[in-house]
Amino acid sequence: MEDLLASRRSCRKFLDKQVGDEAVRKLVWAACQAPAGGNSPRWEVIVVRKSELKRQIMEVALRQEFIEEAGVVFVFVGGREFNVACAVENMLLMAHTLGLEGCVVGSFNREAVRKILGVPKEVKVNIVVPVGFPKVEEINPGKKFPEEVTHYEVYGSTRISKITLKKVIDEAVDKVGEFEYLLSLYIEKYGEESMEVYRLEEKYAAFVFRPFLSRISRLMRLLGYVEEAMKVDEVVREYNNERWRRLSNTGDINSASVVEHERRYSREVFPAAIRRVATRVAELLGN
Ligand SMILES: Cc1cc2nc3c(=O)[nH]c(=O)nc-3n(C[C@H](O)[C@H](O)[C@H](O)COP(=O)(O)O)c2cc1C
Repeated sequence: MEDLLASRRSCRKFLDKQVGDEAVRKLVWAACQAPAGGNSPRWEVIVVRKSELKRQIMEVALRQEFIEEAGVVFVFVGGREFNVACAVENMLLMAHTLGLEGCVVGSFNREAVRKILGVPKEVKVNIVVPVGFPKVEEINPGKKFPEEVTHYEVYGSTRISKITLKKVIDEAVDKVGEFEYLLSLYIEKYGEESMEVYRLEEKYAAFVFRPFLSRISRLMRLLGYVEEAMKVDEVVREYNNERWRRLSNTGDINSASVVEHERRYSREVFPAAIRRVATRVAELLGN
């Protein structure tokens, strides 16, 4: 079980390979095994395999190209959000055990997807889950340590310590090294302007470095290093605001302006911020 949970990954690069009926049935079966309030889940799922429909969904989901490339796209409609979330996680875990991989996609225009798939007005379009055979092995973006999220008995009673902060910072610094290594490898293999290189940059900026910096800032605040935490927050805020502005303007995650932003933050701004905070914390902790 631990292996399964640790090795499932969001996949954004799929092989051009069909996902057969039997696999689709197993995936939906897994979703149906999930817990649900009153054991009465009301969600339903639309199985989309037609290229034209996948393309149309991709167009209204910030043009995230992997939606079109996935063998199958599941669109969960109706039901309650918690029940849907349980069902989706079951599906993703089953996908992983079948040699498939998926990605939850929440950034899309719900009204547009409703029209594309003919979903009635009274049925909510919840979430889009492309699933397919992974093309590359995805790296773990970094996960929180249990002590970062645990309160004992009452809120505020945590076991967060300087050791926790040190562990998170060490991992963040390792991630910078990992990124720099993979980047040079990818540039050599796929070329500087390839989608593979851009996806790597986007992944590290948005899903690795940004969350690490947010975790570091929170821990620093809790440990009393408020001023340092504010500096970290500022870098993340600038990234978020600018990313949002560029995505809103273009509606396209692969537009030149979004690519430029992710590139700058993954290669320069975030690594510099992580190294800076690592040095500062080492000083504060006295080693
Ligand atoms: C509610 C929700 C919405 C998400 N939306 C997107 C999305 O629109 N695009 C995307 O590439 N990933 C999306 N993801 C995937 C997350 O980025 C991914 O789960 C996270 O980076 C952790 O990586 P992991 O799943 O490999 O552990 C979403 C995940 C969730 C739970």
